[in-house]
Amino acid sequence: MPKPAPKSQAELTFRGNRGLGRHGWLRLTPAYSVQMVEQILDSGAVPRGPVLDPFCGSGTTALVCAERGVSADTTDINPFLLWLAAAKARDYSAAERTWFAQSSKRVERALSNTSSSTAWVPPLYKIEKWWSEATLAGLSRGFAAVERLEREAPGNAADLLKVAFCRTLIARAHVSFGHQSMSFRRARAEVDESLALKAAWREAVTAVAEGAERPVTAIPRALQCDARELEQRLSPGTYRAVITSPPYPNRMSYVRELRPYMYWLRYLDSGKGAGELDWQAIGGTWGTATSNLTKWRPDASARVPFPGFERRILPAIRRQSPLLASYVHKYFEDMLRHCESVQRLLVPGATVHYIVGNSKFYEVLLPVERIFAAMFAATGFRNARVRVIRKRSSKKELFEFVVSAEKA
Ligand SMILES: C[S@@+](CC[C@H](N)C(=O)[O-])C[C@H]1O[C@@H](n2cnc3c(N)ncnc32)[C@H](O)[C@@H]1O
Repeated sequence: MPKPAPKSQAELTFRGNRGLGRHGWLRLTPAYSVQMVEQILDSGAVPRGPVLDPFCGSGTTALVCAERGVSADTTDINPFLLWLAAAKARDYSAAERTWFAQSSKRVERALSNTSSSTAWVPPLYKIEKWWSEATLAGLSRGFAAVERLEREAPGNAADLLKVAFCRTLIARAHVSFGHQSMSFRRARAEVDESLALKAAWREAVTAVAEGAERPVTAIPRALQCDARELEQRLSPGTYRAVITSPPYPNRMSYVRELRPYMYWLRYLDSGKGAGELDWQAIGGTWGTATSNLTKWRPDASARVPFPGFERRILPAIRRQSPLLASYVHKYFEDMLRHCESVQRLLVPGATVHYIVGNSKFYEVLLPVERIFAAMFAATGFRNARVRVIRKRSSKKELFEFVVSAEKA
């Protein structure tokens, strides 16, 4: 195994994005690092654009491009993430920022006004596991104020309040992000929950205000689009580079991870809706997505072009779990469709850079990076190559790679 580049691990993950202005506004565990995108842009392999990120997530590629004046489009299946990416990567006028500063004080008063009653709270399953009763009441009053103020907001200024609200709700939730995905933690004994909520809101408002001051010179488009059918929203022969990190085949659900934000901001209102969105997401296996997978059958015309994939890798996983073998099969069938689709959007000679992680199912190591390289080679790309970026903390064989290629 070649040695990863000598960068600190934290710098190469979402952890390195904290304190980087708008990049640090909200955390998304699988977000990749700003430095990684910058390195690729600086490597000379990427012309000045247009750049595409078809798996937008929290909008890292779009924002790096926006701050550097490189034109970019970004797409994702998840409407909340597209809202967040658009909110992060646009310019805010002085009038919008002033309105935000003034309105944030009104939200603060609503959050702290314990004499008034609780307003709407989202229908999030077992919401009491997320927030104490007092914090939830404060959040509900605060969010009602955000929605009232939104009606009079200039331009997109209300989005700044919503980002600050999201940051506050996660700061006060009983969750920890120490692992690959979020988990619940025990409530801390608080001296005064109302004061703690107010302090979290103030911290969020300061972080958002500081980020909003930074100028953005090229505003990207953020469009909802399935990465398997990009032509539905984007034009063929347009892009000169793709810098992205697709979901990894590791059973992580972005919808599960993002549900507190998505329920509060009204992007979700039921477990059924959450499961349906996760089923549309590549690699999703949460709620109804898991039961759909038991009925899923491969498409005989979409063969994953990697030696041993169907004869060796899948049967070895299937012996342990037929469901997981279907999961892996569907993941690569979906990604093959994506490779075919993205290829059509590129100009000849355009470069693609995919940050991917390998996976292990039981004793079977899934060489995700090599399968991506093989899929690129089979779908109209040349010079597909793999570079190790870092070791992932979980199991010893797990690494993150960048897979690059050029459109032939
Ligand atoms: C690893 S995350 C991207 C993280 C991003 N690079 C960042 O820095 O935040 C993968 C993204 O792919 C999206 N995704 C999953 N399935 C998709 C599909 N079928 N079409 C478009 N996007 C999809 C997920 O919603 C998720 O946001």
